[in-house]
Amino acid sequence: MLKIGICGYGTVGQSFIEHLRVHSDKIKSNISEEYEISLIADRSIDKKEHDKDIAVTKDAMEMALNPAIDIIIELMGGIDIPYKLITSAIKNKKHVVTANKALIAEHGDEIFQLAEKYNVYFGFEASVAGAIPIIQTLTNNMSNENITSVTGIINGTCNYILDQMSSNSLEFSDALNEAKKLGYAEADPTFDINGMDAAHKISILASLIYKVKSPLKNTHIEGIENITTMDIEFSRELGYSIKHVGITSKVNNLIQCRVHPVLVHKDNILSQVLGVMNALLVTGDKFGTSMLYGNGAGGDATASAVVANLVEAINFSCNRDMRNKSIFKNSGSHSYDVMKNDDIISPFYLRIYALDISGVMAEITNILAKEDISIEAVTQHEPTDSDSPIPIVMITNNVSGSSINKSINKIELLAHVEGKVHAIRVLKTDDK
Ligand code: HSE
Repeated sequence: MLKIGICGYGTVGQSFIEHLRVHSDKIKSNISEEYEISLIADRSIDKKEHDKDIAVTKDAMEMALNPAIDIIIELMGGIDIPYKLITSAIKNKKHVVTANKALIAEHGDEIFQLAEKYNVYFGFEASVAGAIPIIQTLTNNMSNENITSVTGIINGTCNYILDQMSSNSLEFSDALNEAKKLGYAEADPTFDINGMDAAHKISILASLIYKVKSPLKNTHIEGIENITTMDIEFSRELGYSIKHVGITSKVNNLIQCRVHPVLVHKDNILSQVLGVMNALLVTGDKFGTSMLYGNGAGGDATASAVVANLVEAINFSCNRDMRNKSIFKNSGSHSYDVMKNDDIISPFYLRIYALDISGVMAEITNILAKEDISIEAVTQHEPTDSDSPIPIVMITNNVSGSSINKSINKIELLAHVEGKVHAIRVLKTDDK
């Protein structure tokens, strides 16, 4: 009988126990040894409802050292304590399953090597895109060819907020409150909004696919804090929706790893990914492009991925490991350069506040022309009164981040332009 310990008994921990209860027969039919939940560790377990037959503790580290525990399910969040817990658990020959993306993004290489060294199972499917089996797919089904790019909506909270602002005209803060209530947002939603959560996820994928060391520190990270209802409406007029995406790709020896908002054309399938849903477009040199779509956040969806890893962990411990043996091999061994945001080329959406005075448009287009930037689309509404600045919105051709920034700096200095120019990349059609 294998003994399971759960560290962290929040939304996902509780959904996990419930999933095991509801589907115990199905799970038993997929494993080769019986298991039981023996211990739950949670700092505030005394305030939470739990099965009284399961022992509890407030000290997660007790779990790592407890010789009676075979498999640890880490669902605490944070980095320092889970890092200590997981590394000492592995050294004590325990198998580990975690949903902790921040931990893997920061310390994945080291933990993967440790798991390999101590020959224990380490599962982290729930760390990226909730219920979508992206880790399994990339490291098994798609591991026999070159993955050229992954472009995905990988933060459910951002997608939910942008969708609510667009479909229901909700204000940013109201949409965020809804996402918190529905259990999509992180305990501290700053990480959702400022792009860090998506950055953790895309850098995990980059390190798995390209074996590049710690891509997180070279990842370009932008959140959705500056997206306004006005941007959403102007984009819609031009045939686009605004999404927050993570992109990783490799061309020759250059990696891209970035998360930021983008305008997605209405013909691109990612524009149809609504609410809390996540989707990843994966392109390989042989299979072409596949899309994986599903629930990217929420207790049940995340717990489902944790259960799948638990089944693998049990079978691994009984020598029935069905996974690709090289998942962790060469982790962090490649030192490709990560492309600077300044060098990445794409069209841009620009929103410029200018006074409605003749010649101002010519001044703006002159500045853009000097950087070889042409305008593919432009829109401007009639002013409500002649003294207030009006937004001019345009979409450029393909240009580098540095060219657009140079032009923006000059445009902001124009006498009839007010405030900051707002720039958002447009997803290129070959990013589809
Ligand atoms: N807060 C995350 C999201 C949860 O909204 O995607 C899943 O990682």
